[in-house]
Amino acid sequence: MSRNTARFLISSGVVVVAAVAVVTGFVMSPNNDSLNRGQTVYDEYCLRCHGAEGAGGDGLVTVQGRAVLKDDPQKLISTLLYGASGSVDRHGTAARASMPPIPYNDKDVAAVATFVLQRIAGRSIVIREEDVSRVRSRR
Ligand code: HEC
Repeated sequence: MSRNTARFLISSGVVVVAAVAVVTGFVMSPNNDSLNRGQTVYDEYCLRCHGAEGAGGDGLVTVQGRAVLKDDPQKLISTLLYGASGSVDRHGTAARASMPPIPYNDKDVAAVATFVLQRIAGRSIVIREEDVSRVRSRR
């Protein structure tokens, strides 16, 4: 491969990555402040229903491995904003349970979504406040 071809391939790769970032609207670089805030929101709000790292437990709802964590992050954002319902196992008996809409601002929703996607789902996605605002404004 000539040096010019190599340079072309490298620069077009950069363009493709940049274009994907623009089209999806999600930034791929980590931000520790947001991740730390996400952990705090998770611990003070989500933990009681989903357990540490989303692993569940008796009477708790496991979120590890859920399709919504592998899908377009907008689905996770809208689950957090509008809530969910399903069933939960309480001492061997299935009971109906629901998740209320999250009582936090868009910046905190972005932080906890980032925390869940990175720490529970192992993805390298960062959700920004404006990504949450965009999903919220669609309703
Ligand atoms: C009051 C309890 C409660 C709280 C607080 C709560 N959830 Fe839930 N969550 C639920 C229930 C109940 C479901 C639906 C049960 C199911 O899908 O099996 C659910 C579902 C989910 C799902 C799966 C949705 C799907 O479509 O598969 C995710 C992801 C999730 N919650 C994340 C969170 C995060 C992150 C937080 C904190 C910001 C949170 N939840 C706070 C109870 C709660």
